Amino acid sequence: MTSSPALDGRAALVTGASRGIGLATACALGEAGAGVCVTARDPAGVAAAVDRLTAAGVRAAGCAGSVADPAHLAACTERAMGEFGRLDILVNNAATNAPFGPLMDADADVWRDAFAVNVEAPLRLTQLAWRAWMREHGGAVVNVCTEGTHGVGPNVGAYGTSKAALVHLTRQLAGELAPAVRVNAVSPGLVRTEMARFVWEPGEERIARALPLARIGEPEDVARAVLWLVSDAAEWITGTDLVVDGGTRVRAAAASRILG
Ligand SMILES: NC(=O)c1ccc[n+]([C@@H]2O[C@H](COP(=O)([O-])OP(=O)(O)OC[C@H]3O[C@@H](n4cnc5c(N)ncnc54)[C@H](OP(=O)(O)O)[C@@H]3O)[C@@H](O)[C@H]2O)c1
Repeated sequence: MTSSPALDGRAALVTGASRGIGLATACALGEAGAGVCVTARDPAGVAAAVDRLTAAGVRAAGCAGSVADPAHLAACTERAMGEFGRLDILVNNAATNAPFGPLMDADADVWRDAFAVNVEAPLRLTQLAWRAWMREHGGAVVNVCTEGTHGVGPNVGAYGTSKAALVHLTRQLAGELAPAVRVNAVSPGLVRTEMARFVWEPGEERIARALPLARIGEPEDVARAVLWLVSDAAEWITGTDLVVDGGTRVRAAAASRILG
């Protein structure tokens, strides 16, 4: 039994990996021995992530574009296959948390965009990875969802609904792609990234005090969970949603019992 997961010789595609959870995940997979192809919209961010991975001794490639663009999804699959000749691991991490506001004010185009980025793109990319490599050789997919789907909150209805759909898509794909491919979700609580800055920056100490594990998450907390799920250590796990939230739901459950 090995103490840390080994991914030597495998290849991964991580979307939204120029910063935050995606970059930490790309680093973790690369340090475990995988070649990693990273994506994001901003070409400079992609180039910087590739440089960082390469400097750490990781075989890295990049592909810039939006996951809402089908041509980009095809291009980044081809980039990964062209660079590594295989595609064992797919991490659907890129997401949008717009629109932010009450659902009664949700604009139809922005709502559709949330579903295009957060739900449709993970499906399309899984189809591409399946056809290019995984159907014949096997693989592991992780969809990054959110702890927020275990409850409801103000102003995050479109984001939460799309991520809840992604949790269900994860289970559905786990059933359809077994036994060749394992498909799991990771659902982070509040993590110190750009996407969530508007939440943690104004009230980090207060939020940390309210959490059982007494701090907000770091991108590496989530990256380690993804690494474990795609590794052989999790070879009998598919269709699960691994919550990485510092105990957020434990405290929420206790509060709801007190409130009756
Ligand atoms: N941070 C949290 O507290 C938290 C909690 C629960 C779940 N999550 C989930 O964790 C995942 C990562 O979020 P994060 O917090 O690490 O965010 P982040 O730091 O803002 O990073 C987002 C990454 O995705 C890229 N991206 C955004 N839209 C994209 C698109 N349409 N196509 C391709 N790439 C895109 C960004 O680069 P560009 O801007 O250059 O495209 C960036 O690399 C998301 O799925 C999010 O929903 C985060």
